[in-house]
Amino acid sequence: RFPQRVHIVEVGPRDGLQAESKLVPTEVKIELIDRLVGAGVTRIEAASFVSPKWVPQMGDGAAVMAGIERVQGVSYAALTPNMRGLEAAMESNVDEVVIFGAASEAFSMRNINCSVEESVKRFVPVAQRAKEAGLRLRGSLSCSFGCPYQGQVPVDAVVDMVMRFRDLGCDEIDIADTIGVGTMTHVQQVIEQASSVFPLERLAGHFHDTYGQALANIVGALQVGMSVFHSSVAGLGGCPYAKGATGNVATEDLLYLLDGLGIETGIDLDAIVSTGAWMSQKMGKENGSRAGKALAAR
Ligand code: HMG
Ligand code: MG
Repeated sequence: RFPQRVHIVEVGPRDGLQAESKLVPTEVKIELIDRLVGAGVTRIEAASFVSPKWVPQMGDGAAVMAGIERVQGVSYAALTPNMRGLEAAMESNVDEVVIFGAASEAFSMRNINCSVEESVKRFVPVAQRAKEAGLRLRGSLSCSFGCPYQGQVPVDAVVDMVMRFRDLGCDEIDIADTIGVGTMTHVQQVIEQASSVFPLERLAGHFHDTYGQALANIVGALQVGMSVFHSSVAGLGGCPYAKGATGNVATEDLLYLLDGLGIETGIDLDAIVSTGAWMSQKMGKENGSRAGKALAAR
């Protein structure tokens, strides 16, 4: 019933770090990425070419991209909200770029300082140029299950944005629960509706674990056939424009689940566990992964 193989997109180096107020040294970010790739991660969000005035932590994206060891067969992605971001990402030779919008007007204004309508206009040249350059293009859709400013988000608003991202030429679209409020049947409903306008195998689940629902939501998503999920090592993260939001589902927890279900990922759980323990220590933070903590203590 479940997919045989799941593709994990590791977002720790981007989503995991972007909300940290204390600047993480560039060399730590580089080592984090290299370790994650060493553990078998083949898709990773490595940088974010956004305004450093808005998100200072991501200001060293070019240096991070220049410092990492580029491994063949690994796709390194970066967030690109506008042409300026895209140009920087291209100079850094990324493999995949991410345009990011929201299913909620209020969140769009806070996160990227423009309405949903304007954001789509802004994405047109970014998408066009990215495709011309042969880059993989991903669309990330915040607040697919609820918005910190607006509350409820109708399923239709999600489907509408999925169609817009599809029409922009996105190869993949992330259905993101920015503040982690979704519950399983809601998640299944949204995925089923979204997959009526975009291929299910190119929809990804991006679940923040703020309400402890991420793994349950992933099981629900697996049941309806979703097979791409985002996760963050040690559960690092949050969003600077979603106050109180915690990290994505921890990669260790997700891998523990998938390994238990016999679903292939190509990623070595033990290597992720030691990377998560190492990174938590570097940041002076408690490890946000339950499985990570339990396995590291064994
Ligand atoms: P703006 O202020 O409306 O844009 O910001 P602007 O064009 O007026 O530019 C303002 C200043 O930023 C200017 O500098 C630009 O040059 C500079 P100044 O002239 O004042 O010195 N600038 C840039 N610098 C570097 N790179 C760029 C860039 N663009 C402009 N690309 C903008 C609009 C979109 C730029 C801004 O709102 C922004 O950067 N927002 C990003 C917010 C962000 O990164 N949020 C977190 C990521 S999204 C997320 O986490 C959700 C996700 O995980 C899914 C989920 O969980 O929901 C993906
Ligand atoms: Mg996120």
